[in-house]
Amino acid sequence: MNSPARDRARNLGTRLGGLGFGGDYNPEQWDEATRAEDLRLMNEAGVNLVNLAIFAWARVEPSRDTYDFGFFDTVMDDLAAHGITADLATMTASPPPWLAVEHPEILPVTASGGILSPGGRQHFCPSSPVFRDRAVRLVEAVATHYRDHPALGLWHVSNEYGIHVAECFCDTSAADFRQWLAARYGDVAALNDAWSTDFWSQRYTSFDQVLPPRTAPTYPNPSQQLDFKRFSSDALRTCFTLERDVLRRITPDTPVTTNFLAGHKAVDVHSWASEMDVLALDSYPDPHWGSAHIGAALSYDLLRGAAGGKPWLLTEQAPSAVNWRGRNGGKRPGRMRLWSWQAVAQGADAVMYFQWRQSRGGAEKFHSGMVPHAGVATRVYAEVRELGRELALVPELAGTRIRNEVAVVFDWPNWWALELDSHPSEGVRCLDRVLDHYAPLFEAGVGIDVVHPSADLSRYKVLVLPSHYLLSAEDCARIGAFVADGGSLLASFFTGIVDEHDRVHTGGYPAALGDVLGVRVEEFWPAAEGEAVALRAPEADAPAPAPASLWREDVKLTGARPELLFAGPDWDDDRPAATVHTHGRGTARYVATRPHPATMRAIVDRALDDAGVAPVLPGLRPGIQATIRRGADHDVLILLNHTEDTHEVALPADRRDLLDGKRPLVRRVTLDPRGVAVLGSDGN
Ligand code: GAL
Repeated sequence: MNSPARDRARNLGTRLGGLGFGGDYNPEQWDEATRAEDLRLMNEAGVNLVNLAIFAWARVEPSRDTYDFGFFDTVMDDLAAHGITADLATMTASPPPWLAVEHPEILPVTASGGILSPGGRQHFCPSSPVFRDRAVRLVEAVATHYRDHPALGLWHVSNEYGIHVAECFCDTSAADFRQWLAARYGDVAALNDAWSTDFWSQRYTSFDQVLPPRTAPTYPNPSQQLDFKRFSSDALRTCFTLERDVLRRITPDTPVTTNFLAGHKAVDVHSWASEMDVLALDSYPDPHWGSAHIGAALSYDLLRGAAGGKPWLLTEQAPSAVNWRGRNGGKRPGRMRLWSWQAVAQGADAVMYFQWRQSRGGAEKFHSGMVPHAGVATRVYAEVRELGRELALVPELAGTRIRNEVAVVFDWPNWWALELDSHPSEGVRCLDRVLDHYAPLFEAGVGIDVVHPSADLSRYKVLVLPSHYLLSAEDCARIGAFVADGGSLLASFFTGIVDEHDRVHTGGYPAALGDVLGVRVEEFWPAAEGEAVALRAPEADAPAPAPASLWREDVKLTGARPELLFAGPDWDDDRPAATVHTHGRGTARYVATRPHPATMRAIVDRALDDAGVAPVLPGLRPGIQATIRRGADHDVLILLNHTEDTHEVALPADRRDLLDGKRPLVRRVTLDPRGVAVLGSDGN
């Protein structure tokens, strides 16, 4: 039976009739003649979807309870007349000046008591009842006004929640935090237990004594810090659901989304996903970073995992450079196309940009636009228009899914807890550790899902825990069952160390996974910054692998067999550095350091071999990515050349070249540098 959320998402798909293409449209920054040109150009470029009115609160509600929709009525009418769907914003992303003057208590407060002023954007305390009330009133007015407008196809709630202000430490937030804690723990004794408050005389006798983790003389209680991050994500989610509930009541058939930012730490996407009809991601890979496509791939697999495998929307990317890094590299010819197709290859049903027309003024005037300052006779606009033409050639991609056999475990509470202070090494960073595992899997050419530890693991053959520090006893038990049932596990150091309250699973690390891994770790010995960690193979005559880095520890074998050992001069007593263990019908590997990438690749390959997992398309050269999106009776193979060389790819069977209007059958494809091939199964 279809859920209403799925029905609403389908309504958007049906309306678009294929993939979405467009960007943030900010017509309020332009005069009438430019707006008329915009519509003509959008049609020319194949734009069918725009994110509209995201920062329009000050214009639409110029003073309290006075709404002026005149400007956007014209824009919405024009969009409808040009066949373009509006992803209409609820306009609550940036409160107008008058609201902060009338109610300065909506302004966010930092951990050390500073007040964040208006003048930028997102200057609201997520727990502020005044802010929430004004936002809900605005949404009520916007939704009522546009409920039957033919351009309306999707609601865009706020914008990138928490990217500037993820946590507020004001008294209102403190009171909200206490209520959240009371609901979570029931009584203060349970909170004392969870937070280990007998340490440093922090024992509470009432919830009223509890504060947010404001700037303190030394490390604030880590469990308190962790819960405050959970609370802060939930407070923002409440802002979202309050608006969403208004929209659902007034426009029950229109899907609702909000856009997440790739790599953003503050918002726990997993806990928001079920509240949304369709998930949306903004992605800004850094063109200066040689592995940017792998970082982007990770964020797409993560978002798709959070969406339960359903298609998602790429709501923003840069046509070329952004404005907000220290040095803002542009995208070389073909790279924007390649990275756009990459998002589609990994499950996106829309490709959108920030923004349609590059602004003349404001903080983002040097951020690229689909229509640059230099106008339409430009490389960027030509590439945008060409991509719009191409995406329209493959409507059958919309709604298709991806099936993978490898899962990397990721969740936000672990990210938060792993990076708290007073740990063995500040060098252990969550995204770095995940990439250390994800990159060799990506390079091995296998399809990857990135999943929450509570996901259904039975569909996977290989499970990867990259220094997954926080794991509940229940999750450890499920992971153990996955291995016992025949799965292949690869876990790295500092995995399964603490429970959901950041309390250590005692009995030798990682106690709750010790039986599965066949090891017991007594002590951590992190490396100094830049220190090489020498390794050797157990066989005396085998060549030594390149040095590892970051971590070593005292591993005792309780059933596992070593595959690598730490080597001298001070660590020459055969302590294991990588192990393998048979547990039930499965295999569990443990890595007690950060191996050189080549060594890590060899370890990953062994875990894949154990489970019999093959690449999506065998025999591809490094740097060529392959994914398959599957429909009910067709599939589409997408090949992406992330290298600067030309590659020939031989296909196992004939496929249709969907980017050639005639859809010829092909058996070989030539991928130019940064090239793309989109190949349908014979029936397409
Ligand atoms: C996003 C944001 C947009 C714009 C863009 C610039 O984070 O949602 O409004 O600021 O960045 O890259």
